[in-house]
Amino acid sequence: MPPCLAPAVEVLSDATAVARRAAALLAEALWDPQGAATGLATGRTMEPVYAALCDRLRGDARFDPQRWSSVNLDEYVGLAPQDPRTFRAYMERHLGGPLGLQPQALQLPDGAAADPALEASRYGEAVRRQGLGLQLLGLGSNGHVGFNEPPCEVTAPCRVVQLSDSTRRQNAEAFGGEPAHVPALAITLGLAEILAARELLLVVLGAGKAGILRRALQDPADARLPASWLQGHPQVRVLCDREAAALLG
Ligand code: GLP
Repeated sequence: MPPCLAPAVEVLSDATAVARRAAALLAEALWDPQGAATGLATGRTMEPVYAALCDRLRGDARFDPQRWSSVNLDEYVGLAPQDPRTFRAYMERHLGGPLGLQPQALQLPDGAAADPALEASRYGEAVRRQGLGLQLLGLGSNGHVGFNEPPCEVTAPCRVVQLSDSTRRQNAEAFGGEPAHVPALAITLGLAEILAARELLLVVLGAGKAGILRRALQDPADARLPASWLQGHPQVRVLCDREAAALLG
């Protein structure tokens, strides 16, 4: 894939402005006339984004919960279906409940499936069949997107992955601050499905991500930094606050 030398980067004043802008783009994507699903993500970055999206949709006459069609990037393996720490529970909390969506409208991998590898191939196939319009992405501190941990090739498909120690530390807050309690495995869409989306929207907040964002956008694309593969997508937009943009040249 040829590198795209200038991904569109929008630097906004703060997290609230970024969340509002991301919500506006998502609200448009959700009414995709071509019927593609919208790809959604989890993480702290997305909490203000989803709050802004709920505000916006509640005031939008076009909003019809029956027409909702979204697929999430990833899910932990091995948590019980009702566990509040699953990404499904996160999505119910931040979007499903507030917007009155049917549980099946929010599609995620089933992390409690008896055969996670089989579930990953089923989910990848389901996503490829529907097609992705806009895919929302956050950025892991180690450069992961979804749960595509480094090293990760650009062709990696939906699969079961082993989470790195740094990711388990990053996500420990929801697990009582104990990295060892964060599941060791997850199912994630791969770079193959992510890069097949029509448009990508990468949202990055805070000074703590400034270094990894600079590398992801400005270093040559490489398996050691999975988010760097986004440079090769023809329609990638980056939304960030001033702090996250601090090191961009
Ligand atoms: C998580 C998710 C990613 C998310 C990223 C950033 O582990 N799997 O999809 O974008 O890490 O999380 P946060 O927004 O909490 O920094």
